[in-house]
Amino acid sequence: MTQAVHCGAPIAIRAAAITFTGDPFTVGASAMHYESDAIVVMSDGRIVDFGAASSVASRLPVGTEVTRYTGCLISAGFIDAHVHYPQTSVIASYGKQLLDWLNDYTFPAEAAFVDPAHASEVARFFLEEALHAGTTSCAAFCTVHPESVDAFFAAAQSLGMRVIAGKVLMDRNAPEALLDSARSGYDQGKALIARWHDRDRLSYCVTPRFAATSSPEQLDAAGALWREHPGTYLQSHIAENRGEIEWVRKLFPERAGYLDVYDHFGLLGPRAIYGHGIWLSESEFARMHDTGTAIAHCPTSNTFLGSGLFRLHDALKPSRAVRVALATDIGGGTRFSMLSTMHEAYKVAQLNGRSLTALQAFYLATRGGARALYMDDRVGSIAPGMEADLVVLDLASTRLIAERMRHCENIEQALFVQMTLGDERSVRATYVAGALAAVSPGRATD
Ligand code: GUN
Ligand code: ZN
Repeated sequence: MTQAVHCGAPIAIRAAAITFTGDPFTVGASAMHYESDAIVVMSDGRIVDFGAASSVASRLPVGTEVTRYTGCLISAGFIDAHVHYPQTSVIASYGKQLLDWLNDYTFPAEAAFVDPAHASEVARFFLEEALHAGTTSCAAFCTVHPESVDAFFAAAQSLGMRVIAGKVLMDRNAPEALLDSARSGYDQGKALIARWHDRDRLSYCVTPRFAATSSPEQLDAAGALWREHPGTYLQSHIAENRGEIEWVRKLFPERAGYLDVYDHFGLLGPRAIYGHGIWLSESEFARMHDTGTAIAHCPTSNTFLGSGLFRLHDALKPSRAVRVALATDIGGGTRFSMLSTMHEAYKVAQLNGRSLTALQAFYLATRGGARALYMDDRVGSIAPGMEADLVVLDLASTRLIAERMRHCENIEQALFVQMTLGDERSVRATYVAGALAAVSPGRATD
């Protein structure tokens, strides 16, 4: 692992490449641009040239070093739109559904983040693990401790990554050690925004955990904090588990439903991201569409915690399409790899009687995720002017994948094999802001 470098002479990489110029859910296969032999040129953190190697090679700046990745595919780096970095040690905790899982495993693990040294160690581990999986951006929950946010932003800044993160707000229904108050949560959030928001590639996110752990006063203060700082994000959870939904209904009997709780406190709109949304109604999807609010679909978490099957195709109904991104939800989720997450999203769609194409899955993990997060003008696709966050996938990373790939007849089939059988082992290299940030252990470029 090396630290990202933001300036210097141009560098270039050469391999097959895919990127999206549109939405495959609405326009089909024409949304993807595929080059069987491409060169991507990067300088000062951005992509400065991209196209067929035969044409880009002839206009490369003199002295540009070209790294060739034989048998590989370049894509925009993956975007994980909902993740809890302090839950890294909670992954693979046995036998509970959401509310018991929170009490028995998650809250005790989060209490340890009162220690800044622990927070720094886990933040670094988490981000390095993400980079090894080809994930270059994420929207992360920290813990209630402001120190957990300092640790995460400091680690992401040193790696040059574009991340969204914030301090969890909880003033009720959680262990004493994890509670703040409406006032202290607001004040700490304000100080964190002043310290971190818009520094380098960092964005602050106002983060009420979910309606059940915040009082009406705290949700009101969260809305005020978000409104007072344009450009910041807001993230929370919604309609994940039936027991959770029933609990929220009892806590807010005067509201029409779960989404209406957040709506009432001004917590919907562009740059608001809600995890899960499994049990949302038609009118709630329509309200999310109208307000430009995004859903982070977390399939490995939803199957692992037995929460239910997110109706992706319903959420994307063209007449009122909701912005949807893909996410791991570590540690309810079980994989850092967005390839594995695409695989699980495919299975969830199948169980809903629908099919998710490989193009749609790769779109959700790149440009579609960036669009849901209102950052598609910066990341999520390969084009001059975009920030140079890239993943290089080895298309034959295991013996089985190599064998299966021999039977693929086109790029769509090849991408489907990668998302179904691939994982961290598929990632040959990851570039962040135009610099090599991770390379798979034991492998060298050709
Ligand atoms: N709802 C409230 N908190 C959490 C959390 O940490 N993980 C998941 N999956 N759902 C939640
Ligand atoms: Zn979550």
